[in-house]
Amino acid sequence: MPLNTLRLLCALALTSWASASPAALPRQLTYRDSGNYQFNPTSRNLAVYYGKAQNTDSPSLYDLCTNSNVDMIVMGFVRQLNGPTALPSFGFTRYCKTPATVTDKTRVSCPDMAANITFCQNMGKKVLISLGGSVSNLTLDSVSDAHEAASILWNVFGAGANSTALRPFGNVAIDGFDFDFESGADTTHMDTLASSLQSYFRSSSPERYISAAPLCANNTILPYGLYANANFVWPRFYNAKACCFGSKGFNKSVSTWYNYLNSINSDLGPTYPRVYLGGLSFNNSNSGFMEPDAFVNATFTGRRLVQSKFGGVSLWEGTDGLVTKNAQGRDFLNVTKAGLLGDI
Ligand SMILES: *[C@@H]1O[C@H](CO)[C@@H](O)[C@H](O)[C@H]1NC(C)=O
Ligand SMILES: *[C@@H]1O[C@H](CO)[C@@H](O)[C@H](O)[C@H]1NC(C)=O
Ligand SMILES: *[C@@H]1O[C@H](CO)[C@@H](O)[C@H](O)[C@H]1NC(C)=O
Ligand SMILES: *[C@@H]1O[C@H](CO)[C@@H](O)[C@H](O)[C@H]1NC(C)=O
Ligand SMILES: *[C@@H]1O[C@H](CO)[C@@H](O)[C@H](O)[C@H]1NC(C)=O
Ligand SMILES: *[C@@H]1O[C@H](CO)[C@@H](O)[C@H](O)[C@H]1NC(C)=O
Ligand SMILES: *[C@@H]1O[C@H](CO)[C@@H](O)[C@H](O)[C@H]1NC(C)=O
Ligand SMILES: *[C@@H]1O[C@H](CO)[C@@H](O)[C@H](O)[C@H]1NC(C)=O
Repeated sequence: MPLNTLRLLCALALTSWASASPAALPRQLTYRDSGNYQFNPTSRNLAVYYGKAQNTDSPSLYDLCTNSNVDMIVMGFVRQLNGPTALPSFGFTRYCKTPATVTDKTRVSCPDMAANITFCQNMGKKVLISLGGSVSNLTLDSVSDAHEAASILWNVFGAGANSTALRPFGNVAIDGFDFDFESGADTTHMDTLASSLQSYFRSSSPERYISAAPLCANNTILPYGLYANANFVWPRFYNAKACCFGSKGFNKSVSTWYNYLNSINSDLGPTYPRVYLGGLSFNNSNSGFMEPDAFVNATFTGRRLVQSKFGGVSLWEGTDGLVTKNAQGRDFLNVTKAGLLGDI
């Protein structure tokens, strides 16, 4: 279709949309004050990554647990799945990580972080662990390798009862796993890993979740079966100039993702996957960062495009968002959550 025809169609669509709902953006945002609440998987949530803060010296999980704007915390990252003695390689901040080389003598115990995870969960928040990140080696060679990886993850971090598993968080069981594969990662058999994890989730309570974080440019293809087993999908609308927040391609990319994700015949039922908008909470000088107030306006646009499948916003990164402020001194998480609470 020629560009000017497209523009005309867009203009027509915008005009009819504007006349249908004249007061489209809320003038007044409702800010959440401190206080407790319960996570609801099908309402509008704020998910924040935790573990690789750039602007804060001592990023504390505790700061996110006590922040009532946060609904879900996604700790990064597990970098490799099958080390010796089946211990995955991971680094969740400098407080809790495996050494550069995992040997069969490696034991990692993180009681302080475990206590914080429990605290977060008691505050009504969900704590997930992210697989991947910028550099990872999570390649699965076969379907049986994927089943084995699910068993290891469930026993090391989840509610698995294998008493020989090397659990860094002791008795504490996390609430799910995130798949964050960046350019170049091999995603073969990740559908089996996800469905196998979901079977473990069904074997125990409380409810547990899988999320996925593809780049908006869709350059790392994730298997259909991974999307069919994901509760939440947050395409990352940043670090990709053509489709990031604030770019000309943003609207079209959000619609494309919505159409694709809405077409998934989910193994988890028609409510899923919930579609989130993945954004940046600080200026990483790459692409996709917007000042908090402008970002909220852009999430309203995205939310309209995603319609009833809208699940919320995910942010890279939580503690960095606490030091990014708007002109009134409100931090990025505060403003973003206020946008999510508002009706549009
Ligand atoms: C968000 O900011 C508003 C306005 O400054 C404030 O009243 C509210 O307590 C803040 N909420 C949180 C959870 O930080
Ligand atoms: C855990 O919580 C304590 C407060 O109870 C806090 O001082 C500490 O920094 C937290 N640790 C992490 C890794 O978040
Ligand atoms: C990747 O992980 C596999 C085990 O899962 C290991 O055999 C291989 O050496 C690793 N590759 C690199 C480059 O670390
Ligand atoms: C328990 O985990 C260990 C390694 O972590 C593994 O070798 C063993 O097969 C597992 N046992 C069961 C019953 O899954
Ligand atoms: C995206 O959509 C919003 C409203 O739906 C509109 O205001 C904005 O101009 C659009 N952006 C582009 C680049 O088309
Ligand atoms: C991503 O690419 C795959 C493979 O080409 C395609 O099937 C899928 O529709 C694409 N998804 C989006 C949202 O563009
Ligand atoms: C982000 O930082 C870059 C310079 O590093 C600057 O050019 C850009 O304007 C900043 N973006 C915003 C939205 O402030
Ligand atoms: C956000 O939208 C509101 C309502 O349309 C508008 O008043 C405000 O100027 C916008 N803010 C930014 C930073 O774009």
